[in-house]
Amino acid sequence: MDHFVWDDTYKTGDQKIDQEHKRIFSAANILQKAIDQKSEGAILDKAMLMLLEYTTLHFDREITFFKSIGCSDIDEHRQAHQELVDEIVLLRKSYGQVSDEDLTRQLELWMVKRLLPHIKESDVDVLKSAR
Ligand SMILES: [Fe+2]
Repeated sequence: MDHFVWDDTYKTGDQKIDQEHKRIFSAANILQKAIDQKSEGAILDKAMLMLLEYTTLHFDREITFFKSIGCSDIDEHRQAHQELVDEIVLLRKSYGQVSDEDLTRQLELWMVKRLLPHIKESDVDVLKSAR
């Protein structure tokens, strides 16, 4: 079973953004599975890179989309994205230095305490600000 499960409370009001958010969930689940299965380093790193690359790509697309529909407060939002990306970079760097349990905890914290509130609050607020 997937560790991170999407539900309707994460809906932003834009289908395309929701679809991309679901893919971040998938990438996080693939990484969690790789940790659970005690996969070798190369596989784990590939999963982390996938999460990092997809998240970065999504954030870029999101900003472009927000701008195109006239959302305000984009700079602050872009800054929040950068912080989220930096945290995944740190998570990736910590691999090999921390236990699998710590890695799981870090990923869980990032998803639950950082990404999900960002989706539920910031993304929704910015979308509401569209002219
Ligand atoms: Fe966002």
